[in-house]
Amino acid sequence: MARKILVTSALPYANGSIHLGHLVEYIQTDIWVRFQKMRGNEVHYVCADDTHGTPIMLRAQNEGITPEQLINRVWHEHKADFDGFHVAFDHYGSTNSEETKQYAQDIYRKLRAADLIETKAVEQFYDPVKEMFLPDRFIKGECPKCHAKDQYGDNCEACGATYAPIELINPYSAVSGAQPERRSSEHYFFKLSDPRCQEFLSAWTQGTLASQATPPLQQEAANKMKEWFEAGLSNWDISRDAPYFGFEIPDAPGKFFYVWLDAPVGYMGSFKKLCDDRSEDRGSRIESPLDFDEYWNADAKTELYHFIGKDILYFHSLFWPAMLKFANLRTPTQIFAHGFLTVNNEKMSKSRGTFITAESYLKQGLNPEYLRYYYAAKLNGTMEDIDLNLEDFVARVNSDLVGKYINIASRTAGFINKRFDGQLANLMANNASARIQQEYGYFETSAKETAALVADAFDKRDFAKALRGIMTFADSANQFVDQRKPWTIAKELGKEDELQQVCTLALNMFRWLTVMLKPVLPKLAENVEFFLNIPPLAWKDASASIPANHRINEYKHLITRIDPKLIEAMVEANKQTLAPAADSHSQTRHAEAQQHAISPIAETISIDDFNKVDLRVAMIVSAEHVEGAEKLLKLTLDIGEENPRTVFAGIKSAYDPATLIGRMTVMVANLAPRKMKFGLSEGMVLAASGSQPGLFILSPDEGAQAGMRVK
Ligand code: 2FM
Ligand code: ZN
Repeated sequence: MARKILVTSALPYANGSIHLGHLVEYIQTDIWVRFQKMRGNEVHYVCADDTHGTPIMLRAQNEGITPEQLINRVWHEHKADFDGFHVAFDHYGSTNSEETKQYAQDIYRKLRAADLIETKAVEQFYDPVKEMFLPDRFIKGECPKCHAKDQYGDNCEACGATYAPIELINPYSAVSGAQPERRSSEHYFFKLSDPRCQEFLSAWTQGTLASQATPPLQQEAANKMKEWFEAGLSNWDISRDAPYFGFEIPDAPGKFFYVWLDAPVGYMGSFKKLCDDRSEDRGSRIESPLDFDEYWNADAKTELYHFIGKDILYFHSLFWPAMLKFANLRTPTQIFAHGFLTVNNEKMSKSRGTFITAESYLKQGLNPEYLRYYYAAKLNGTMEDIDLNLEDFVARVNSDLVGKYINIASRTAGFINKRFDGQLANLMANNASARIQQEYGYFETSAKETAALVADAFDKRDFAKALRGIMTFADSANQFVDQRKPWTIAKELGKEDELQQVCTLALNMFRWLTVMLKPVLPKLAENVEFFLNIPPLAWKDASASIPANHRINEYKHLITRIDPKLIEAMVEANKQTLAPAADSHSQTRHAEAQQHAISPIAETISIDDFNKVDLRVAMIVSAEHVEGAEKLLKLTLDIGEENPRTVFAGIKSAYDPATLIGRMTVMVANLAPRKMKFGLSEGMVLAASGSQPGLFILSPDEGAQAGMRVK
């Protein structure tokens, strides 16, 4: 009987681009969903943008737009990226939806009715200029352990220490630069320390409840849970004070749900939209209506799977099941966590150009299925990190996909097209040789066995094993073609039947391989279906033969080898995204236009001359207009000295002061102070300008710290 399955991937935040790190998860989920659908199961795959929280609110403010405008724009960008990589959601929504709001408030009310909500005063940093409480990541200051400057509110990037924001020395708001105050406000808590929650979660995470047919967590994740339990569960702070972009808490004016409260509820909201779409379309579409309750009621018999990254395990295996359970809803069947992506064995990096966006990959003209294949070859269903080695990527795709899989069709289809007008042989007919019948029988059995092994591996998310099985079969298909040498038979008189039979068997094997690769390479499979002139392949076709005497279409190139130059260009393009103009094409044009306009290069100086200039990385702590000054902005710059410097910079025409606060730049630190009409200027900020209008202050690369010398 067909299984009824609801699948989700984690909801990406609506304030950044999708990059290759994100795609590990969406590609992993999409492959699994496509496989389950090919098996004949009823599967619904939903996701949405995660739209709430302070960073999104502030980003919209910085861009001078409303949060709604920002999340709407990003939604379209995300959707285009997912479509580009053939990630086929049944519904892609937004957490900022009426459905998600209703479910979030409903769950909250049920938790409150179950006496699982309490309030408590919490003291936090408050930005008196922005008039808002500051999340930890928006507070910076000196590390209490190693005294590195400009460290975030919860951990130090220099020494790795973790601490509470109130321990920071000289804290400042990363939003306005102001010195934060400590203020108290009432917060709402989900009482996870309640014995009912503890008892439920300790049984649920270990899969020991009578209602659980399978353990909900991978072994490594279940072990992690035990550690967390031993450390003790604290109550979870689910409220944030206004101003906050999110949903208001019922009966608590000015209090909003913390983004992580409504984010997973977005899974429900997005699924509800899918159900509603289905019921509206009923009649004109074949799909049967979808019943929301069948998937979310406490006694649901359907399956629910969440694919996530290992970093958000805590939310999905503790907070989320507890919310569901005590709101009298179903809990997830299983949570599938994956590891992080490294590129060339290192963390993705903007300066190395390995922080690669989905858009930039597609813009290079790289086939998205190359990446799908490579990720599949690396994913094994565990929480281990996976590495995208760019050289290996090229080698692997070229050798497996082009050299093994496509090779089978490219070496045999031409003979069928040209010599037999596209018609395949009947391998079981009387004129088929005993040898080919025997070979057919052998390969058919082998395909059946391979398909069973591959199906089991796909089901367990061990895609690496599935692809190894598929490629082993491709190897034996190639050996068959090598041995039978259709190109030699084609030259021999009276061997027409043999030629047609050998090529027919090879194309049958090519079809079996296509079935097994289809979850990974859906677009390529569609092109193969057209070439073979067959209906869409389902899993049951993995060892069935193409009907005798069937006529195929003309073979055309199905996939090309990856050109390593495209990879180099992609890495370069991602390095360039740090420059002011994001679009590399416009940068090139800009450079060309400027070629004849640069001012002459100044007289040569010695290195000693240069060394006299003390250039320092500076953090702009505050920036403001100067009354009566036409061109100047007053900047307060932190270069790691005891007191920040004041510099009057002639950049008013190019910058809104609010956008400069918190930015790093470069200043001349040993320039003689200059007395100006508006005060003393204690240095100079570096900015570029040319014959065209425009002024651009310099920024160091990510990671530079205030006070570092520029040499
Ligand atoms: O970590 C993240 O990127 C979150 N936006 C994931 C949310 S997943 C779910 F709970 F909504
Ligand atoms: Zn430190």
